Amino acid sequence: MDNIDWKNLPFGYIKTDYNIRCFYRNCKWGALEVSTSEYIDIHIAATGLHYGQEAFEGLKAYMGKDGKIRLFRWEENAKRMILSAGGIKMAEIPVEKFRNAIFEAVKLNKRFIPPYGSGATLYIRPLLYGSGPEVGVKPSEEYTFIVFVTPVGPYFKGGIRPVNMLICRDSDRAAPLGTGIYKVGGNYAASLRAGIAAKEGGYASAIFLDAREKKYIDECGPANFFGIKDNTYITPKSESILNSITNMSLIELAKSMGMKTERRKVPVEELATFDEAGACGTAAVISPIAKIVDADNNMIYEYCRDGKPGPVSMKLYNKLVSIQNGDEPDEFGWITVID
Ligand SMILES: Cc1ncc(COP(=O)(O)O)c(C=O)c1O
Repeated sequence: MDNIDWKNLPFGYIKTDYNIRCFYRNCKWGALEVSTSEYIDIHIAATGLHYGQEAFEGLKAYMGKDGKIRLFRWEENAKRMILSAGGIKMAEIPVEKFRNAIFEAVKLNKRFIPPYGSGATLYIRPLLYGSGPEVGVKPSEEYTFIVFVTPVGPYFKGGIRPVNMLICRDSDRAAPLGTGIYKVGGNYAASLRAGIAAKEGGYASAIFLDAREKKYIDECGPANFFGIKDNTYITPKSESILNSITNMSLIELAKSMGMKTERRKVPVEELATFDEAGACGTAAVISPIAKIVDADNNMIYEYCRDGKPGPVSMKLYNKLVSIQNGDEPDEFGWITVID
């Protein structure tokens, strides 16, 4: 570990020292347990394996210039995991337990937090799954909650840069009244076909449309979409997308910068009217979009013609990253310092 090259870390998994585990049995959660193993012993009939009873979260710990470790809006991740658990009939992990587990996982693996200025961060992955055996299709009576951490490199090595995306019309990530609003594994499995096809075509991501009418923008792979025009930040309202914490925060930032904000249906044709477009999420904060290709309709929507991210996207990005790193005061109350 002493020879981790922080500046060249991949956005992938690296073993750390400890992870935290907690078990739900006999209708109650037990105490947090610390483990040094990367493996789990799982029942062959666990509902997490057979019936997709699995949800996860993703957030980051940031090392500041002042040597303080900061978490960004972890309560929102805790609340979203409760929403996801309820959505697929799993036991909910209480906010306090979620908090204690992520704090403990970060503190125990402090030596893996990338230094300030490296662009790398400590990614925190809480995971919840049905671990009790069932053969009929029904919710498990037992659950396992795990938090592991892993240092990850910046999403864009060499700095933020615009990417191309492909509109997907031949598969859906989530149904309108399905599980798209939950962060459950099944949605990600359902997105893989389109995601891989897009990558094979040289695109950074697939853009999913609403499954009912295929008229409106849903999401950009594992990130929300936004467009900018007329001093307005516009982002899709949909019953099948994940409520991105980054997007919620960008909306607040845009408002604080004097912009209007709209969360509403975004028709595909409206892509032609945006000055800037981007995808947002914890991994990259903002991925500015250079080009969106709608191959079935022979349409190409282009932004960033000079090859650079648009000014509004950059302003939002710089502001959010500065708050996360502790370079700017946190006027929104989004940061928790881990002592
Ligand atoms: C499907 C999907 N949409 C959006 C996001 C972005 O959400 P957040 O900003 O909370 O990371 C993610 C990542 O968590 C995701 O998996």
